[in-house]
Amino acid sequence: MKPIHVGLLGIGTVGGGTFTVLTRNQEEITRRAGRPIRIVKVADRNIELAKQVTQGAVEVTDDAFSVVSDPDIDIVVELIGGSTVARDLVLKAIANGKHVVTANKALLALHGNEIFAAAQKKGVIVAFEAAVAGGIPIIKAVREGLSANRIEWIAGIINGTTNFILTEMREKGMAFDDALREAQRLGYAEADPTFDVEGIDAAHKLMILAGVGFGIPMQFDKVYTEGITKLTREDIRYAEELGYRVKLLGITKRIENGVELRVHPTLIPEKRLIANVNGAMNAVVVKGDAAGPTLYYGAGAGAEPTASAVVADLVDVTRMQTADPHQRVPHLAFQPDQLSDLSILPMSEVRSAYYLRLRALDKPGVLADVTKILGDRNISIDAMMQKEPADNETEADIIILTHITVEKNIDQAIAAIEALPAIAGKVTRIRMEELNK
Ligand code: HSE
Repeated sequence: MKPIHVGLLGIGTVGGGTFTVLTRNQEEITRRAGRPIRIVKVADRNIELAKQVTQGAVEVTDDAFSVVSDPDIDIVVELIGGSTVARDLVLKAIANGKHVVTANKALLALHGNEIFAAAQKKGVIVAFEAAVAGGIPIIKAVREGLSANRIEWIAGIINGTTNFILTEMREKGMAFDDALREAQRLGYAEADPTFDVEGIDAAHKLMILAGVGFGIPMQFDKVYTEGITKLTREDIRYAEELGYRVKLLGITKRIENGVELRVHPTLIPEKRLIANVNGAMNAVVVKGDAAGPTLYYGAGAGAEPTASAVVADLVDVTRMQTADPHQRVPHLAFQPDQLSDLSILPMSEVRSAYYLRLRALDKPGVLADVTKILGDRNISIDAMMQKEPADNETEADIIILTHITVEKNIDQAIAAIEALPAIAGKVTRIRMEELNK
C-alpha cells in the first residue's frame, strides 16, 4: 500500500530518535498502521546534521515552511519547540490540510485552543502524546483508556530534571545549586534551566493533562506555578524524618466549585509508590471514580522514549486519517462543543495540608505564640518537631505539619508568625498531599 508521507520539523534529540525508531521498527509499524510510514522531508537549521542523521535517504532543507506547504506531505511532525515559529508552522500545516504530530507542550498550553479549533474546522488531527511525560502513554490512558470514568484528580511527577535534582538532594545531601550543576553536567538540565526548575515545563504539561482529564480549554495563565529553587536539603531531610518525600508535583483536582491547577514542591507519604519514583523518571497517578487510582511510570524525556510517543501518534493518525472527523477521538477527550467552563480556583481557595518550618529563638512561650496563631485561624496541628540549635546558633528549627486548611488561612498565619519578634526570617511552607482518596 502507498506509504504515508511525513515531513519532520527538527532533527535534534527527539527528531533523531523518531527517525531511528521508524527505521528500525519499520516492519512492525507497517503491520500495525496498515501502510508504511515514511519520513520524506526533514527541515532543520543544521542541514549537515539533518544529512548525517538521515544518511542521504531523505530530502533535507533549512526551510520549515517549505515542508508544511509541500503537497506531497500528509503528516507534519513538529519537534522544533517554542511557541512562536512553531505556532505559525502548525497553523500553516493545518490550513494546508495536513495532520500534525507535536511534542510541544508550551505550544499547546499557550495556543492549544486556537490550534484545536483550526484543526477541527479543517478536519485534521493534532496528536500530542509526546508532549506530556515522554514515553508514558498518559494522554491515551486518560483520554481513551479511562473514558468510562469521572476523573477526580491527576497528580504527576512530570519533569524529569527537577526529579533528578530532588533525588540528588535527598540521596546525597546536596544543596540545590550543586544538584543543578550535576543535572547540567549529565545533560538533564539546559544551560538556562528556568523552564524546568521554576516549574513552567511541568505547568505546561499539567494544563494539557487537565484538558484531557476534565475537558476544559487551555488556560495556562491560571496555573499556579512554584518551582524547586528555594528548597533546602534541610527541608528534604526533615520531611524524610517525618515519613515524607518531597516531589515537584503537577496536581489538578475537580472539586465542588471548580478545578485546582497547581505545580509546586509537595510532601508525599513515603509509602506511596509515586514517592519512590527517583532520578529523571516521570510518573502520573490518575484517580477515576470507577477505576480508582492508576499509576503510570516511565521515562519522561530522551530520544527514543519520546520518539515512542511520536511514532505511536503517527500510527494513530495513519489509521484514523480516512475516518470521518466526527468519529475520531476528540483532541481534549470530550466533544468540542461539550468542553466545560469549570472555573480554575485561585490559589487562596485551594485546600491543602502544610509543612511549615520556622526558625525561632529557643526561649519560653515562643511555641505557645505560634500555636495560638494557628489555633485562632482554625488550623489544626498534625505533628511538630523541634531541632536543637547548633552550638554556635541561638535559633532552633521548628517544623509543624498541619491538617488540611484553606490556603488563605495559612497565608495569614504565616504572616502573623513572621511578625513575632522571636521568629527569624521567613517561614518555609511546603504543601502536603496524601494522594490516597
Ligand atoms: N525538560 C523536560 C524534563 C523534558 O526535564 O522532564 C522534556 O519535556
